[in-house]
Amino acid sequence: MEESTINSSILGTKEYWENLYQQEINNYLDHSDPGEIWFGKGLTMKMVKWIKSKSSQLLPDDGDQIKILDLGCGNGHLLYSLYQQGYTDLTGLDYADKSIKLVNQMASDLGIVNNLKTYVADVLTLYKSNLIPERIKFNLIIDKGTFDAICLNPDLDLNQVKSDYLATLEAILFKGRSFFMIASCNWTKDELINMFTKSSQSFLSLYDEIETPQFSFGGSKGNNVTCLIFQRLS
Ligand SMILES: C[S@@+](CC[C@H](N)C(=O)[O-])C[C@H]1O[C@@H](n2cnc3c(N)ncnc32)[C@H](O)[C@@H]1O
Repeated sequence: MEESTINSSILGTKEYWENLYQQEINNYLDHSDPGEIWFGKGLTMKMVKWIKSKSSQLLPDDGDQIKILDLGCGNGHLLYSLYQQGYTDLTGLDYADKSIKLVNQMASDLGIVNNLKTYVADVLTLYKSNLIPERIKFNLIIDKGTFDAICLNPDLDLNQVKSDYLATLEAILFKGRSFFMIASCNWTKDELINMFTKSSQSFLSLYDEIETPQFSFGGSKGNNVTCLIFQRLS
């Protein structure tokens, strides 16, 4: 498998996100500002629309509700959008305490606390902890910009990051028909496919892609955000 690298940035530090969400809490309390929509409203809407359009495929075999986890949920915008579309078994997880504080505050104000569980947890160590009860598995796990942020951490070894991230996905993704959706601006489609389907640890296959705007530069074409959906194989 071809080795991919990425430059580190302040966006890879927990301190950065804690400060950002403290600012978002202040803005929310001061003038009800719901905060920044990472990758924009358009992509978020497309992701929600895709989920709606595939609802019958995503539905668990026992006919129960689709359990959705937003990995690195930030200000929770995606979770609220899903709730508005009728999804009521939602979980948000983030390692920034302030993110979860903001999500809980908004959930309480919107009256949706019974439909939304939240956890302060690090994606990279989640598989080793018993924070999420063993019996809770998700039918759909979504990552919008979180894997990007994690890979920018200057102190982490990228191979270890990929391995820990996959271990967490494997531990909490329902065994059977279940899906992982990722939106990334730091990794290309080929790199994401390599990382998530071609490592020895891998248990996913590419299922679908959400079209994102293309840009042309210097004669070559590319997408500034890639959004892929993988299905669990075993
Ligand atoms: C680019 S933001 C995206 C936030 C959210 N998904 C959205 O679309 O608005 C990245 C998020 O990942 C979270 N994050 C970064 N590293 C993490 C880790 N190791 N475990 C859990 N969350 C992490 C950050 O706190 C931040 O909320």
